[in-house]
Amino acid sequence: MANVVVIGTQWGDEGKGKVVDLLAESADMIIRFQGGNNAGHTLVINGQQFICHLIPSGILHTDKTCLIGNGVVLDPRVLLDEIKTLKDRGIAVEPGKLLISETAHIIMPYHKLIDHGREQLLKGDAKIGTTGRGIGPCYEDKIVRKGIRVIDLVDPDSFKQKLSAVIDEKNFYLREYLKSDTMLDSQSILDEYLEYGEQIRPYVTNVSVAIQKAISDNKKLLFEGAQGTHLDIDHGTYPYVTSSNTTAGNACSGAGVGPTQIDKVLGIVKAYTTRVGAGPFPTELLDAVGDTIQERGAEFGATTGRRRRCGWLDTVVVRNAVRINSLTGLTITKLDVLDGLETVKVCTGYRYKNDLLTEFPNTLNILKECEPVYEELPGWSEDISGIKEFDDFPENTKNYLRRIEELTKTPIRIVSVGPDREETIVLEDPFA
Ligand code: GDP
Ligand code: IMO
Ligand code: MG
Repeated sequence: MANVVVIGTQWGDEGKGKVVDLLAESADMIIRFQGGNNAGHTLVINGQQFICHLIPSGILHTDKTCLIGNGVVLDPRVLLDEIKTLKDRGIAVEPGKLLISETAHIIMPYHKLIDHGREQLLKGDAKIGTTGRGIGPCYEDKIVRKGIRVIDLVDPDSFKQKLSAVIDEKNFYLREYLKSDTMLDSQSILDEYLEYGEQIRPYVTNVSVAIQKAISDNKKLLFEGAQGTHLDIDHGTYPYVTSSNTTAGNACSGAGVGPTQIDKVLGIVKAYTTRVGAGPFPTELLDAVGDTIQERGAEFGATTGRRRRCGWLDTVVVRNAVRINSLTGLTITKLDVLDGLETVKVCTGYRYKNDLLTEFPNTLNILKECEPVYEELPGWSEDISGIKEFDDFPENTKNYLRRIEELTKTPIRIVSVGPDREETIVLEDPFA
């Protein structure tokens, strides 16, 4: 038996969705434990693309249970749209196949307005570049104990009471601080959200109890992280982060299970680095090579469509993720995007003033001034996307992978060479 957590090691969009879909074949339950529809997880099966924002990326497998844990913030309209889109494409998303935690928090209309309003007020470098999905304001209400939970959404009296307790304050903030013209009307929110509650009720359960039962039945659990380690609210490049713990430890609190139940933690590493939104990014390439990677990797956000910033692989970043998440293995994705480059650079450390840093600095002002120290490796001209066995990789590709293992002191378990489920080399199945 093995229970596995999959998390992003960089700044998100490492290809977690693809890997979770692939590993879901061997798992019984797939559990999202944090974030919300700021995530965009892309799955490609026989050339058909699906993007999961809230629903776990195991949903395309018929006989698996997908769970949305208490740590997720849930926009009910987005969830219902996602269920409908999947159903329209012939994927059943019935209650029982999808389970939603009673204690997940609901993203309300004012959360989205506040998210947008705050971003508009911020000037220049202070802008975070959020996805505008209301994620931060929803987690904020959770922490100050003013949130509305799934359990309230499906209970009209409770929902009404919780909403009436906050609506005046939200309108005051919108009008007086954010200078918004949009004022919220309780009755129209009630009409809209209670209808969502009706539709969502059959899916709602105590997710922790469902997980415990699965563990007792020797089922295999796969925890699906969203965002990435360096967007974590504690360990990321604060304040240019998301508002949840994106790291492996939160798989437990965000689902209602203890750390003794986790066996393996797989970190997803894009073969280069990308970041969408603002914030420091030491290996960012603002030249033609960066443009080539961006174009070849089709690096546009799966949620907002924004162009992703691109740069070389940064092993200071990956090593930081290895430690924070206690990674047991790595998956390298998008290796094919580097095909045809004469040389490939890997950042091994940072030059800061007269010092060489080998650990990722927590001080943003230091990080902003860090110059990457690169090692340059020969590239490969071959198209590697059809390769099925590690031994068939060109020697220079193997050397690149081996060097990543050395620099991160962590074994590579899976290599992805294309977006499709089939375009993957599994060196060690974490569930085996
Ligand atoms: P996630 O948020 O971590 O799930 O990643 P995204 O889905 O936002 O972004 C990853 C993008 O890369 C998606 O468009 C995937 O279809 C694509 N992708 C994943 N793995 C590979 C790969 O190995 N090669 C290529 N070329 N594309 C990949
Ligand atoms: P997946 O799961 C990449 C970024 C936003 C912004 C910051 C805060 O697909 O990897 P938020 O809306 O969360 O308050 O925005 O976090 N961000 C992501 N970047 N991938 C994601 O998810 C992201 N989710 C949030 O761009 O910089
Ligand atoms: Mg994504």
